[in-house]
Amino acid sequence: MAEFTKVTKTGDIEPGKVKVYDVAGKQIAICNVDGTFYAIDDVCTHDGGSLDQGELMGDQIECPRHGALFDVKTGKALTLPAVAPVQSYPVQVDGDDIKVEVDV
Ligand code: FES
Repeated sequence: MAEFTKVTKTGDIEPGKVKVYDVAGKQIAICNVDGTFYAIDDVCTHDGGSLDQGELMGDQIECPRHGALFDVKTGKALTLPAVAPVQSYPVQVDGDDIKVEVDV
């Protein structure tokens, strides 16, 4: 069953930054794009790079291992060597709380 799970507070992730959290056993990267939060799997679909260790540029994140770019809004792979999207998750901001909808 999918439900929104509280993950962190809005003040914990500055604009332009990414942090990774364990949510229901998944490593999920939460990205702050100019005050809007997006959640994606932290694991690159090319060869398992940790996306939170890469650079967030606008709404794109660069894998630190081989440089693939992903759209953090949709999870779509934008450049090689990644071709498959990363999973993206709905985010809800409730007061100061950031909640992510994951299967639990
Ligand atoms: S592991 Fe991410 S581009 Fe290779």
